[in-house]
Amino acid sequence: MDSENKSLRWGILGLGKISNQFVNDLKLIEDISIVACASRSISNAINFAGQHEIGKSYGSYQELFEDDEVDIIYIGTTHDAHAELSIEAMKNGKHVLCEKPLAINRKDVQRMVDASRKYNVFLMEAFWARFNPTIRAVLNQVKNKSIGEVNYLNVDFTFARKDADDSRMLNMEYGGGSLMDMGVYPVFLAYVIFGKPEQILATSRMHTTGADLQTSAIFKYKNGMANIMSGFVSQSDMMARIYGTEGRIYIDPVWHESESYTIIKGNKGDENGYEEKKYTLPKLGKGYTYEIEECKKCISQNKIESDLWSHQNSLDLMEITDEIRNQIGLKYPFE
Ligand SMILES: NC(=O)c1ccc[n+]([C@@H]2O[C@H](COP(=O)([O-])OP(=O)(O)OC[C@H]3O[C@@H](n4cnc5c(N)ncnc54)[C@H](OP(=O)(O)O)[C@@H]3O)[C@@H](O)[C@H]2O)c1
Repeated sequence: MDSENKSLRWGILGLGKISNQFVNDLKLIEDISIVACASRSISNAINFAGQHEIGKSYGSYQELFEDDEVDIIYIGTTHDAHAELSIEAMKNGKHVLCEKPLAINRKDVQRMVDASRKYNVFLMEAFWARFNPTIRAVLNQVKNKSIGEVNYLNVDFTFARKDADDSRMLNMEYGGGSLMDMGVYPVFLAYVIFGKPEQILATSRMHTTGADLQTSAIFKYKNGMANIMSGFVSQSDMMARIYGTEGRIYIDPVWHESESYTIIKGNKGDENGYEEKKYTLPKLGKGYTYEIEECKKCISQNKIESDLWSHQNSLDLMEITDEIRNQIGLKYPFE
């Protein structure tokens, strides 16, 4: 952005499902404009631009990189392309908000972070859950010891997806598998509560494509443990459960985009009593609005990373998924 007073001008790259949802939220934010969108297919770009009233549509990503009227590019492609496209955008002086997972492995995230520093542009992984008001409030409750010392987390991200077989989700060429697509969310929650684990034990059930259909892991910390699970085959309640020495916090379904959580102390029938209190925090839009506001704020302050979801946070997250992949034997053909 040229000046602090000018509105932040967005370009959208890779026009699939998530980009569509993201742009719906982008339109709810003040002092920004969506100036261009780019697809590998010009007809896709024209349709997307028409649907969202975006002025310019490009049939190649390169044209978006070279557009002088774009300050920041949102990258919504399949995971395999995140690193190279983000680096190319940054080389062209663009700030970048890139979908999760930021890349496929820590080495590539490091290259992205190096590019952000070299070209002095903002880079953030679109880990929208980090900015969700409910998740932020829960992390404050944990920090303030509302349930005593937190020492156990049980969290999953599993859907029964009938379409997973034929989609990018189990396709090795696109970095498919439940861990990289959905497992990063439980890994994230464990990380923001406990930090990096001292020990990881992970195992998976693989699909015929070679991608993981279900992955389960146990994380051990100095003062606690976490059980995490991801998968494409189970209909879960998608509730996150955080336990401490004096109570528990349930983040209501669907936990990573939740608008409420409940703190419970004791058990029904306990002689010391039972307390249950629900907290509700409505979201603006689907919830991508908060990461968008964070980009706006950081860029207006000339920052190249967010304090809430920093470069180091993305590096750490990927270090954990690297170790899980190492244990379950998941290596992608393009690595
Ligand atoms: N934050 C969230 O809530 C959330 C939710 C879902 C997904 N995601 C993340 O967003 C990313 C995209 O997911 P999605 O569900 O939107 O996928 P999708 O519908 O398949 O869209 C992905 C887009 O990537 C582009 N692309 C670039 N190179 C490609 C290639 N070689 N093959 C196929 N597509 C390619 C395509 O855009 P063009 O054809 O227009 O070039 C395609 O439309 C993933 O990394 C996923 O983890 C995030």
